[in-house]
Amino acid sequence: MIYFDNAATGGFKPDGVISATTAALNHSANPGRSGHKLSLACLERVYAARKLLCEFFGAESFERVVFTKNCTEALNIAILGTLKSGDEVVTTVAEHNSVLRPLEYLKGKGVKVSYAPLDEAGSVDVQTLVNFVTDATRAVIVTLASNVTGTMPDIKKIKSSIPAHCLLICDGAQACGHIEINMQQLGIDALAVAGHKGMLGIQGSGALLFSERLNPSPVLFGGTGSESYNLNMPDFYPDALESGTLSYPAIISLGEGALYLMQNLQKNSQKTEQMCAFLCENLVKTEGVTLYSKPNPCGIVSFNLENMQSEIVASELSEKYGICVRGGLHCAPLMHNALKSEGLVRASVSAFNTMNECEIFIKAVKELCLIR
Ligand code: ALA
Repeated sequence: MIYFDNAATGGFKPDGVISATTAALNHSANPGRSGHKLSLACLERVYAARKLLCEFFGAESFERVVFTKNCTEALNIAILGTLKSGDEVVTTVAEHNSVLRPLEYLKGKGVKVSYAPLDEAGSVDVQTLVNFVTDATRAVIVTLASNVTGTMPDIKKIKSSIPAHCLLICDGAQACGHIEINMQQLGIDALAVAGHKGMLGIQGSGALLFSERLNPSPVLFGGTGSESYNLNMPDFYPDALESGTLSYPAIISLGEGALYLMQNLQKNSQKTEQMCAFLCENLVKTEGVTLYSKPNPCGIVSFNLENMQSEIVASELSEKYGICVRGGLHCAPLMHNALKSEGLVRASVSAFNTMNECEIFIKAVKELCLIR
């Protein structure tokens, strides 16, 4: 089998992630709830993972690293916990439903939302985006890499072009673990992280990291193991945003993924971009293929075959060649509208794939082009 669906879920985990996660499953107590030795040891490990993520992403403080079950939850906390009636937000048509849906919900609560279109090359043009920003704009929300095509906006330019008061909230689902992200250097106020993609953790892991410029309110209420007498949520972080039992093994996997990436990100990113470039170069010169991606370090390559629905292409690749890709719509409807596509085939490689697999993939696509 060739696994080219790493943008949906990373298919390969480093040995360190597997052994640390297995150990967490074997010695699992509820971190922060009971006072016994095992619970305290788990709590310490959760804090170690928090500190690792804080360091890895250049965040301001580890207390403002909140563990979530995925990137969607992190974005919901950042968006629903921060914006209120009367606020104005500028975002882009490249966003995933995990940004679009909470924003559309907030539109009904009096939040004004503007969507910046793409330029002709299918990228977010900074000037176009900035033209939507006014003195009343509270936040700019952008994905660091589109999950549909892998296009990446110039985040430094966005930061330097928006007014200082404007919060910069970033969806890091596809970029985290693939490119270096230093929140303080880039001026990112909130970064939503998927743990199970480029970060190499397991499903059920994710995080929201945020600066002192925003103080998200809880969107989920419940036990935190702290101030248990209090009928309201604690007003300090991370507890204010971490109700209910944490997914201890998932958090350990994410921390271990960050540890691995501290040594390997640059090398892996180069390898991923090389494979991505190889796929793009070969797809673009294959008759019958329309390519929607440019080489990117997140490893995303989207395309379509003439006269063959993307779901059918994905299913043929799976059934006939044992190649896993995603077809159809990718939970980013405005991006598909902008690309005038009703669905795309998305191959997504990671550094754990090989050039040989890329060659087999290209050969398979060429064969499908001949029979279409
Ligand atoms: N958001 C994930 C993807 O793009 C699931 O496939």
